[in-house]
Amino acid sequence: MLYLWLKAFHVIFVVAWFAGLFYLPRLFIYHCDTTDPAGDARFQVMERRLFKFTVMNTVIAVICGIGLLIVQPAWLTQHWLQLKLALVVALLAFQWSGWLLVVAFRDGRNRHNDRWYRWYNEIPTLLLFAIVILVVLKPTL
Ligand code: HEM
Repeated sequence: MLYLWLKAFHVIFVVAWFAGLFYLPRLFIYHCDTTDPAGDARFQVMERRLFKFTVMNTVIAVICGIGLLIVQPAWLTQHWLQLKLALVVALLAFQWSGWLLVVAFRDGRNRHNDRWYRWYNEIPTLLLFAIVILVVLKPTL
C-alpha cells in the first residue's frame, strides 16, 4: 500500500516537474526576442521563479522515486531501471543547463536565437518518451 502511495505521488510530481521543463524553454523563446528593458526584467523574474518551483517538484519526485526503491530494492538489479536512472541523470543535466541559461539572460549574455531554443525544447520531450516507455514496458535488456 505504501508502495502504491509513493508511486502515485512520484507520478504526480514527475508531471509537475515536466511542466516546468517544458515551460522554461518556451520563456527563453519569447525572451530572446524581447528588447525593451521592462519586458526583459519581467521574463527574468518569471524564469527564476519557474526554475525554483521546478526544483521543488524535482526534489519531491526524486524522493518518492528513492522511496519506491527502498521499499522494492530488487528493481535496482534490472537493466531497464538502471538505464532509466542514467536518463534521469541526463534530465538533471538538462535542468542544470536551464539554470545556466537563466543566469546568462540575467547577465545579458544570451547567445542563442529562438530557433536554437525550439530545438533545445525537444530534449526533455525525447527523455520523457524514453523514460516512460522504459518504466511501463520494463523491457529485458
Ligand atoms: C531519481 C529519479 C527516479 C527514481 C529513483 C525513480 C524510480 C521509480 C521506481 C522504482 C518506479 C516504480 C516502478 C514500478 O513499480 O513499476 C517508478 C515509477 C515510475 N516512474 Fe520513476 N523514478 C525517477 C524519476 C522518474 C522520471 C524523471 C520520470 C519521467 C520522466 C519517471 C516516471 C515514472 C513513471 C511514469 C512511473 C510509473 C510506472 C508504472 O506504474 O507503470 N520517474 N519510478
